Amino acid sequence: MVSGRFLGVRWQAMGDSREDGFEASALGTKEHWDAAYERELQNFEDSGDAGEIWFGEESMSRLIGWLEKQRIPLDSCILDIGTGNGVLLVELAKSGYTDLVGIDYSPSAIQLSKKIMEKEGLPQVKLQVEDILNPSDELSGFHVCIDKGTFDAISLNPENAAEKQKHYVKSLHRILRPGGLFLITSCNWTKEELLNEFGKEFLLLEELPTSVFCFGGKTGNNVTVLVLQKKI
Ligand SMILES: C[S@@+](CC[C@H](N)C(=O)[O-])C[C@H]1O[C@@H](n2cnc3c(N)ncnc32)[C@H](O)[C@@H]1O
Repeated sequence: MVSGRFLGVRWQAMGDSREDGFEASALGTKEHWDAAYERELQNFEDSGDAGEIWFGEESMSRLIGWLEKQRIPLDSCILDIGTGNGVLLVELAKSGYTDLVGIDYSPSAIQLSKKIMEKEGLPQVKLQVEDILNPSDELSGFHVCIDKGTFDAISLNPENAAEKQKHYVKSLHRILRPGGLFLITSCNWTKEELLNEFGKEFLLLEELPTSVFCFGGKTGNNVTVLVLQKKI
C-alpha cells in the first residue's frame, strides 16, 4: 500500500485528514514497521547491509557531536527510543559510550539490531522489544533519551494519534531522571509544535542546526532537532 521511505510526506497518506494537518499513514502502524524490518533483516542476511539510516549519517554525528561537546559522561545511561536497526547505538558505542539501551516495538527491528551488534562485536548494547507508549517498569532512570523519527511515526498513527502523543510524553517523563536530557529529531514537527507537545514537562536547552532535506527531487523539508531537559 505504501512504499515511500520518508516520514511525513503527504503522498503516503491513507486519506484520513486530521485537525493538526497530518494525514494518517501506514508509517504510523506497527504492521508497516514489522514488514519493513522483516525485509531489512532478510537484506542484512543476504548482503550484510544494515539498511535505512533515517535522516542520514549526519543526523547521528550531529547528536553525538552535541553529547561530546557538552561532555556528557561516557557512562551515562542512554536510551534510543524506536532504535530500528540500532545503527545510532553502534556509533555511540564506537564513540565510547558504555551504557546503551535500544528499544523498538517491532520484534524484527530488535532481531536485526541484535544481529548488527553481533557483527560489530558490541554484545554489551542492550536491546529489547518495548512499546514506548507502554514501557515496562525496568525501563527507568535514563540520563539521556534519543528519538530519531519515532515520535514522528507515532504521530502518523491512523488511530488516536493525539492521545498517543500525550502517552509518549508521559512515558518519556517517567523513564528519564529529573534533569535528564531528551534529544529529538523530527521532520513532521516544527520547534514551536514540539514545544507545544513537550513544553509543560521539559525545558528547551538548544535547537541544533540542520541542513535542508532533499528527497525525490524536492527540497525544503526542514528537520527539527531539539535538546530538551526534564524539569526538576
Ligand atoms: C522512522 S523509524 C526510525 C528508526 C531509527 N530511530 C533511525 O533513526 O534509524 C521509526 C522507528 O520507531 C519504531 N516505533 C514506532 N512506534 C513505536 C513505539 N510505540 N514504541 C517503540 N518503537 C516504535 C519503529 O518500529 C521504527 O523502528
